Amino acid sequence: MADSLEKLRSEALASIAEATSVEALDATRVELVGKKGRITQQLRALGQMAPEERKRLGAELNALKQTVDEELKNRRAELEQAREAERARQEVVDVTLPGRGRAPGARHPLSLTRERIEALFAQRGFEIVHGPEVEDDFHNFEALNVPPDHPARAMQDTFYLDGAKLLLRTHTSPVQIRTMTQRQPPIRIVAPGRVYRCDSDRTHSPMFHQLEGLYVAENVNLGQLRSELESFLKAFFETDLRLRFRPSYFPFTEPSAEVDIDGDSLGTGRGWMEVLGCGMVHPNVLSAAGVDSARYTGYAFGMGIERLAMLRYGVGDLRQFFTNDLRFLRQFV
Ligand code: DAH
Repeated sequence: MADSLEKLRSEALASIAEATSVEALDATRVELVGKKGRITQQLRALGQMAPEERKRLGAELNALKQTVDEELKNRRAELEQAREAERARQEVVDVTLPGRGRAPGARHPLSLTRERIEALFAQRGFEIVHGPEVEDDFHNFEALNVPPDHPARAMQDTFYLDGAKLLLRTHTSPVQIRTMTQRQPPIRIVAPGRVYRCDSDRTHSPMFHQLEGLYVAENVNLGQLRSELESFLKAFFETDLRLRFRPSYFPFTEPSAEVDIDGDSLGTGRGWMEVLGCGMVHPNVLSAAGVDSARYTGYAFGMGIERLAMLRYGVGDLRQFFTNDLRFLRQFV
C-alpha cells in the first residue's frame, strides 16, 4: 500500500507539472481530486479499513491531498501568468514602427486646367461668374440667336427635361445672356462650368466643361479679341505658339472665327488644331439680353476645358478624365 501511495504521489505531481494550459490542469485536477478522482476514491475507501490502518493511511492520504491541492494552485498561477504574458506579447503595439501612411490626394487635371485658365483671365481683368446647368430654351438657344430649326436643337444633341420645358445647357454661352440681363456694360467675364450633350466617344463625353468669355463695352473690336486670345493661348501653353483665326459660323456672333493652334509648335506634331470659337457678339444677342446694340459692341469666345487639358498634358483619350483611374490621375500635380 505504501508503495502504491508513493506511486500515486509521484504520478500526481508529474501530471500537474506537465499540464501546459489551464484547461489541461483542470482536467488533471478532476482526475485526482474530483468527485471520482483517484485520491478522492482512496479517501473514501478509508471507511472500510481497520482503525489502525485507517489512522496511518488517512494521515498520509490527507497529507498527499494537501500537497496536491497546493501544487495545483501553484501550477495554476504559473499557467495563468504565462497566458497573460502571451496575450500581452501578441497585443503589443510597437510605437516605433513607421505609420501606414495615407496616399496624398491630387487635384484633378480638369480642375487644374480650369483654375489655370481662370487665373490667366483674372490677370487680364475678367471676372469669374457662374450660371445654372439646368437651363431653359430662351437662355440656351433663343436669346443666342439660334433659330428654332437650327440643328443644335435636335433631340439627339440636347438632353431635355420636364417635357422639354427645361434642358441641360449644351454650352456655357447662356451665361452671357444671364450676365447681360442682370447688369449693364462694361461687362468683362469668364464663365466656366459643366455642359451636356448626347454624345460619347474618344473625343466626346456626354458631360464636359467649357469656359465662356464675354467683353461688352463701347468700341470693343475684333483686334482686341484677337490680341486677348493670342496672349491667353501663349500664356496657357507657355510657348510662343503659332495660331490662326479661321472664319467660321456661330449664330450668336458676327463675324465668327475659330482659333487653330499649330500642333508642331507645341511639340504634338499634328498640324493645325482647333481650340476655340469666338466672334463679335451678334446685335440680336445684345438686344435679346437688353443691351443697347447701337451704343455697345462686344466679343465672346468659348473653349473646351478637356480639349485644352488634352493638349497641355498630351492625353489622347478624353474618357481618361472620367474613369477615375488613380494611376492616370496621380500624374498631375
Ligand atoms: N458655344 C459654342 C460651342 O459650344 C462655343 C462658342 C463659339 C462660344 C463662339 C462663343 C463664341 O462665345 O463666340 O460650341
